[in-house]
Amino acid sequence: REQRFTAIYQLYSAAQRLYQHILLNTTAGEQALAYLHEQRGVDDELIRQYGIGFVPGDNVLLSYAKEQELSPQLQNDSNLFLTNEAGQSRDRFANRIVWPIANASGQVVGFSGRALDAKNPIKYMNSPESEFFNKGQLLYNFDQVKNNIRQASTAMILEGFMDVMSVNMLDPAIGVATMGTALTSDHVRQIKRLAKKVLLVYDGDQAGQNAAKRSITLIDQEAPEIEVGVIVLPDNLDPDEMRLQRGLPALQNSLQQGVLTPVEFLVSAARTGRNLSNQAQYLDFLKEVMVILKQASPVEQDIQLSRLSEEFGTDKGALQQQLATTTIPKIR
Ligand code: CTP
Ligand code: MN
Ligand code: MN
Ligand code: MN
Ligand code: MN
Repeated sequence: REQRFTAIYQLYSAAQRLYQHILLNTTAGEQALAYLHEQRGVDDELIRQYGIGFVPGDNVLLSYAKEQELSPQLQNDSNLFLTNEAGQSRDRFANRIVWPIANASGQVVGFSGRALDAKNPIKYMNSPESEFFNKGQLLYNFDQVKNNIRQASTAMILEGFMDVMSVNMLDPAIGVATMGTALTSDHVRQIKRLAKKVLLVYDGDQAGQNAAKRSITLIDQEAPEIEVGVIVLPDNLDPDEMRLQRGLPALQNSLQQGVLTPVEFLVSAARTGRNLSNQAQYLDFLKEVMVILKQASPVEQDIQLSRLSEEFGTDKGALQQQLATTTIPKIR
């Protein structure tokens, strides 16, 4: 087993170097390189730092595997190739920009490829789940920033590779990504060994906001000692869009000044989709808020009730009374 793993890891490292060489130094990588430079604000230094590469459409890795006389077993186990019914193999990540994904020790254990063509229905394609690539256990970039996370006792959890690259231009670089929005108990366990605080920075869209709610609950169950902060970026932007469209200082400002407590975030999220000048919808909103506040500290309850009273002109005593009579439903 050891030997099998060593061979696969060697192949991953070789593939990563080959893909990066193609991106930076060959005509086959020109279009992808121009895309990264011009559309995504990613320069050569960043490409090297994150090990990014490009996989052309002409089966370079397959040729390499043949040339090196790699066994069919190894080629198959690596998941770097796709095989059709006729038994013909081709490079899995063809025509994609690829990010190597390393485990916590820094060993490359898989790749994620982004389509260059905006019309491609599959924007991101990852290495399939396997004994060494498990998305629920991997935090992208964790190996690179774990010392910073320990030092700052804070980790920033993001959705994607581009987001990690953007926030880690700032000091301290503490950004890791779940490669999507699914935070797991295992992720939380890895983080809580190093940090007392977690900042959730998901995309400003509905999916990102729903993910923040789930992550708050999960962290609360898995590691109630961890302090959680939630940052919602303006105008549905994600961190990398924010950097590109508004600039790094604007992103920095949001990350520093825009931290909400979980209660603040949940109360603010309860507003979404409701017209609060409509009485029925306002009352509905209040019901949801009271359930949230029922689990908050007395001070945070007081702050939130004062804010609501001021904003909507509802008597604070009445709000307090409603909170007192609110019961938490068993299933939320
Ligand atoms: N992701 C994934 N597989 C998918 C979709 C997304 O692994 N099919 C992961 C990727 O790590 C991606 C992250 O989830 O970076 C966030 O997805 P999304 O927000 O949809 O990515 P975009 O911001 O739209 O991607 P980009 O910035 O590259 O346009
Ligand atoms: Mn998207
Ligand atoms: Mn998203
Ligand atoms: Mn995004
Ligand atoms: Mn993005």
